[in-house]
Amino acid sequence: MEKIKLAKASRLTSPNPVTVVCTEKPDGSTNLATVSWWTYLSFNPNMIAFAMAKTSYSGERVRETGKVIVTVPGAEIADAVMGCGSMTGRNTDKVGKFGIELASVEGSKIQIPAHSRVAIQCHMKEYHETGDHYLYICDVEQVYGNEAEEALFAWNGYSQLRPAK
Ligand SMILES: Cc1cc2nc3c(=O)[nH]c(=O)nc-3n(C[C@H](O)[C@H](O)[C@H](O)COP(=O)(O)O)c2cc1C
Repeated sequence: MEKIKLAKASRLTSPNPVTVVCTEKPDGSTNLATVSWWTYLSFNPNMIAFAMAKTSYSGERVRETGKVIVTVPGAEIADAVMGCGSMTGRNTDKVGKFGIELASVEGSKIQIPAHSRVAIQCHMKEYHETGDHYLYICDVEQVYGNEAEEALFAWNGYSQLRPAK
């Protein structure tokens, strides 16, 4: 073994998971951001966590509203998901720009990409400063799944999105 940087380790662990973090903007529309750094935390009670850069608009919206839906995107929207990870939604409607079809979620103002394999509806329990990111720890309210959608993963670090098979 040789000493390497942590960023290089993330290439060695590819394919890495990919989610789309869905939040509500002040005008009621949905913002979408691509997030690889997420994990299950607990099945009893159901909890998950994800890390987002301190500067991210999505993080700001989660801290403001306390609500978030974390989705695993389907293979059909790979290009759009890469787009959602390349610009902030602070002044841009990413849903319109990348032509992403949305679906409603019962009891939530936040919408999700119609092509999602999994959607985990949460409220934020707490968040912690972790270096240049905040770690958002979330209680899960509801979980949805669709086996017909093929999950996307990030390859070569985070530079390409495609299924694992
Ligand atoms: C494949 C991929 C994975 C990403 N994973 C993360 C992540 O885990 N955490 C993070 O803060 N940003 C991640 N990003 C970058 C954000 O999606 C990007 O900063 C985005 O502009 C944030 O949008 P927002 O400001 O609308 O929240 C990733 C980008 C890509 C393309």
